[in-house]
Amino acid sequence: MRLSRYFLPVLKETPADAQIASHRLMLRAGMIKQASAGNYSWLPLGYKVLQNITNIVHEEQQRAGHIPILMPTLQSADLWRESGRYDAYGPEMLRMQDRHGRDMLYGPTNEEMVTDIFRSHVGSYKDLPLTLYHIQWKFRDEIRPRFGVMRGREFYMKDGYNFDLTKEDALHAYNRHLVSYLRTYERMGLQAIPMRADSGPIGGDDTHEFLVLAETGESEVFYDSEITDLRFGDREIDYDSVEQCQGVLEEFTSRYARTDETHDEDLFNQIPEERRRVARGIEVGQIFYFGTKYSEPMGATVQDSEGNKVPVHMGSHGIGVSRLVGALIEANHDDKGIIWPEGVTPFHAGIVNLRQGDAETDKACEDIYAALTAAGLEPLYDDRDERAGGKFATMDLIGLPWRVTVGPRGLKNGVVELTSRRTGESEELAPEMAVARIKEIYGV
Ligand SMILES: Nc1ncnc2c1ncn2[C@@H]1O[C@H](COP(=O)(O)OP(=O)(O)O)[C@@H](O)[C@H]1O
Ligand SMILES: [Mg+2]
Repeated sequence: MRLSRYFLPVLKETPADAQIASHRLMLRAGMIKQASAGNYSWLPLGYKVLQNITNIVHEEQQRAGHIPILMPTLQSADLWRESGRYDAYGPEMLRMQDRHGRDMLYGPTNEEMVTDIFRSHVGSYKDLPLTLYHIQWKFRDEIRPRFGVMRGREFYMKDGYNFDLTKEDALHAYNRHLVSYLRTYERMGLQAIPMRADSGPIGGDDTHEFLVLAETGESEVFYDSEITDLRFGDREIDYDSVEQCQGVLEEFTSRYARTDETHDEDLFNQIPEERRRVARGIEVGQIFYFGTKYSEPMGATVQDSEGNKVPVHMGSHGIGVSRLVGALIEANHDDKGIIWPEGVTPFHAGIVNLRQGDAETDKACEDIYAALTAAGLEPLYDDRDERAGGKFATMDLIGLPWRVTVGPRGLKNGVVELTSRRTGESEELAPEMAVARIKEIYGV
């Protein structure tokens, strides 16, 4: 992409009403535009990051054997009357009527709808285990939408639902989700810690929330500092293996880590004092096991091997896809702007032309642009006729992890400059070497 042809409406001024860094930076970098309270349009740069996160979530869900579907945003109230949640859900549910006077709602979550799909098409234990998921917009009429996309009213979420014959099988599905979530967040360059949480309106006994530590987080968290040393890394995992998934769950949940809802002061005080941490975190995901809470009232049953009709054991598992864009920025920024991790960056590298219109400089930029593009990478080339300072400020603000700076002085010595956004360190290299280095970083 060439900046001269892109749509990147960066703001010079810091928006007054944005209270936290990610909200300010998303507005300033031209990633989003508020449409109404808690409701945003995603502009090109923001949309690219949202898509990158979406793609990682899809890949990791499918790697774990979960099957993508797409359910509508609008739902019939009748399904929610069957589960008893139509009245229970309260004012966070946006309710409406169609022209025939039928009660509808904008889905805040999809347990009822997916259970209806299941009961309509699945009748035998032989069709289990089954996990269906989708990534779809949700609406919750939050009383205080704030912090930009972090607490929106309309937000993008991955929600997955497992259907299993027995409680043990459903707990394996729970563990499988925990493992796949660890992988998912790490691929984005984020550390999200599973913490024992409270189940809220979804219901159920077993639940963990995944929290990214950040001062601006809305949840108060209590944990053993040893937990922050754990990494899933690039280990191989067999998602069908009960032992392997259980082992990862034990490894990542055996140390104390709880949100304020489930915090237990006595247990916490058993940790050596120097390891006790009280901090804040952003909830970027949650997994639940809730057994037959929906399958029983809604009649989602299968025949077991002896021919008995039994309600299936279920759980639901969410990732806050749009919230993650904000959480990633909270965890990765400095006073100049965003610093994207390579796994989610909207463009792989920026190219800054210091003397637009100088034939040799233009040609060197074009060659780098072509070489990166040919390697399957997406560079953003600042080809505008602007001063160097302004170009650098824009690149720092939008946070591309690598910048290639090309100017006549360097080219005279056969070099361009490759700069890391994270460390600020620069290196002078031949243009081909700069391209080779970027390809190596991205493994292409
Ligand atoms: N209002 C919101 N705006 C943005 N993301 C949200 C919002 N509410 C929930 N999410 C995200 O969706 C994920 C799954 O939702 P869920 O656990 O049902 O939400 P909650 O715990 O807030 O009721 C959460 O972990 C969070 O990351
Ligand atoms: Mg939650």
